[in-house]
Amino acid sequence: MASKPHLNLIFTGHVDHGKSTLVGRTLYDTGALSENDLRKLKEEAAKLGKATFEFAFAMDRLKEERERGVTIDIAHKDFNTAKYYFTIIEAPGHKDFVKNMITGASQADAAVIVCSAKEGVQAQTIEHAFLLKVLGVQQFIVAINKMDAVNYDKAAYEKTKAELSAKIKPMGYAVDKISFIPTSAYMGDNIAKKSEKTPWYTGPTLIEAFDQLVEPKKPTDKGLRLPIQEVFNIKGQGTVPVGRVEAGILNAGSKIVFMPQNVPAEVKSIEMHHQQLTQAIPGDNVGFLVRGIEQNAIGRGSVVGEPSNPPSVVEEFTAQIVVLNHPTAIGKNYTPVFHIHTAQLACTIIEIVEKKDPKSGATAEKNPQFIKTGDVAIVKIKPTKPVCAEKFSDFPALGRFAIRDMGQTVAAGIILDIKKKA
Ligand code: GTP
Ligand code: MG
Repeated sequence: MASKPHLNLIFTGHVDHGKSTLVGRTLYDTGALSENDLRKLKEEAAKLGKATFEFAFAMDRLKEERERGVTIDIAHKDFNTAKYYFTIIEAPGHKDFVKNMITGASQADAAVIVCSAKEGVQAQTIEHAFLLKVLGVQQFIVAINKMDAVNYDKAAYEKTKAELSAKIKPMGYAVDKISFIPTSAYMGDNIAKKSEKTPWYTGPTLIEAFDQLVEPKKPTDKGLRLPIQEVFNIKGQGTVPVGRVEAGILNAGSKIVFMPQNVPAEVKSIEMHHQQLTQAIPGDNVGFLVRGIEQNAIGRGSVVGEPSNPPSVVEEFTAQIVVLNHPTAIGKNYTPVFHIHTAQLACTIIEIVEKKDPKSGATAEKNPQFIKTGDVAIVKIKPTKPVCAEKFSDFPALGRFAIRDMGQTVAAGIILDIKKKA
């Protein structure tokens, strides 16, 4: 089980279109939720006057537990298919959704966009789809849900599919490559089993579509990028920086460079979970011994690379940001704290290039004076001190950031272009 490749999945879509139900159904149909669990949830839902919510409760149980003091024994939000091991990322309200997406604790490898055929495309369907794209998610599945409520009618399915396609195509979605699956999360149609009620549908079931996802490639063929989380100085031994390899390979015995400080070093040894490694690959969290560098020459936020391909130190960068939460408005010269990989520093928004229409992704206004909560904009940013950053398209982990101010996340974005320091 643990040896299957792991993917993180996010379920998104307008309120009440059946996200939680679809998750509960998926857990149930893959055996992650037992018959007994479901029976308890059904009873609980009925007791709360929320009949039909039993599948949703599988997902929502923590909240319900807190409110009602009930304990229902379902341990996980993980499930297995033939090929993969999945972890589900919840996306309840808009705000939480965005925070989940950007704090990046668990980066979504793929997203399921749930859209009810009964209610059709709604505001949050579009908003979520847009944010997924802005924040760099690459793989999508669309569930046209509640097919039972429209008599499994092909025309209703086609209508919702066409409406949604028309909205998301301008955002850059390759709609022809996406599976639009007619589902009934509640009745279990086209989730694990092909439904007899949709003989007109020839595509994959939801679970089959999960297995058609592509495993995120470990970028071992790229240049080494290893942002440093912490640096230990061990008496008599040397300096032990700690961090996660985001791209490339760290080899014991190799020559490296720490940027932006431009400090060269040689890797004496690499350790992970108290075991010596000869090399570390993307995803590995390692400590490695280097000798002969000054104690404070490097630190958290430094990035390790090969001397022939050092991490980029940026003079300026252009980014697409989404404003999540700002009490007033963001204008030119705003200088909040940016969190880019492990670096944390003040950066100034030196130009607001354009505001985008979150409904379509098209340009809404050139050079606006201000941007506010909910706005999506292209901005130019100047760090107040040297920092490493990369284009999102080159090194995703070094090309996304969160902006914090007054103790909260104000915005998030991805880097479209960089201007390297001379
Ligand atoms: P929020 O978390 O509040 O945004 O909603 P959600 O998208 O998670 O929806 P949820 O799963 O809680 O379902 C909302 C209602 O729709 C419940 O009454 C479900 O039983 C119902 N529902 C979900 N899926 C289906 C379906 O396939 N068919 C029908 N008829 N009802 C469904
Ligand atoms: Mg829900």
